[in-house]
Amino acid sequence: MMQLMTRIPSAVVATLLLSAPFAAQAAGGGIGLMPAGNDVSDVASLQRGARNFVNYCMGCHSAKYIRYNKLQEVLQLSEEQLKENLMFAAEKVDETMTIAMPANDAARWFGQAPPDLTLVSRSRGTDWVYTFLKSFYLDDQTMTGTNNLVLPNASMPHVLWELQGLQSAEFRTSEDPNTGETVNHFGDPAYFEAFTQETEGTMSAAEYDQFVRDLVNFLDWAGTPEQLERRTLGIWVLIFLLVFLIFAYLLKVEIWKDVK
Ligand code: HEC
Repeated sequence: MMQLMTRIPSAVVATLLLSAPFAAQAAGGGIGLMPAGNDVSDVASLQRGARNFVNYCMGCHSAKYIRYNKLQEVLQLSEEQLKENLMFAAEKVDETMTIAMPANDAARWFGQAPPDLTLVSRSRGTDWVYTFLKSFYLDDQTMTGTNNLVLPNASMPHVLWELQGLQSAEFRTSEDPNTGETVNHFGDPAYFEAFTQETEGTMSAAEYDQFVRDLVNFLDWAGTPEQLERRTLGIWVLIFLLVFLIFAYLLKVEIWKDVK
């Protein structure tokens, strides 16, 4: 028992140590990721997130593993509501959330084709996507006029700038140990200091956070649409185990009754 007790903490520590460098890498170096704090069981938030995605992202990104009729079911919408609010790019409800832009053209325009976003919440993590959408800053050296802290030199423009407003970013400088000269680290996430709001957006900071959180919530659901079902199933499994435990106990009492 003693051995087991000492072994568990060291295994936990080892796992933490092993995952630490990856966590730092995912954060893009110096900045920590902001927690998305979304909740996939919040249907109202999923509805807003789907609307935000269709209106602001589907010009460039698809979510090609999601069918509209699946969306309708989870968002608890009527077919009319679905068609009026979310189906701008499709005719039939059993179509998937694809877009009209050919990948070749997209790659020519942006230097990089906008990836399908169905699984991005799993490949990057929800916190990463949340932080990404909050971390565009002004940079006149880039084609888009903005840069991104967690995806440096991103070819995606800050498509939500009207909502958030524009922010600039400050980076620390350092001193070259040999020459004593000041080294500029603009754009290097490891030297990031702070954002400064430069222009007002149409939303307050809190409204923008909620907008992005809903969007991330939708992408979180899209990455694992069975997540909701799995949760309800989990509750049934627990109830089953509890009932089974009661019978197992009664059986034990019955069997041992005569053994004195
Ligand atoms: C004008 C086209 C355009 C629009 C609109 C757009 N994006 Fe993008 N997005 C891109 C391009 C291009 C990339 C590839 C960036 C790169 O890798 O440099 C990208 C990359 C991303 C990535 C990073 C994917 C990865 O794993 O590297 C995420 C996340 C993302 N977009 C989310 C969104 C969301 C959410 C919206 C809607 C609010 C949106 N995008 C709207 C063009 C767009």
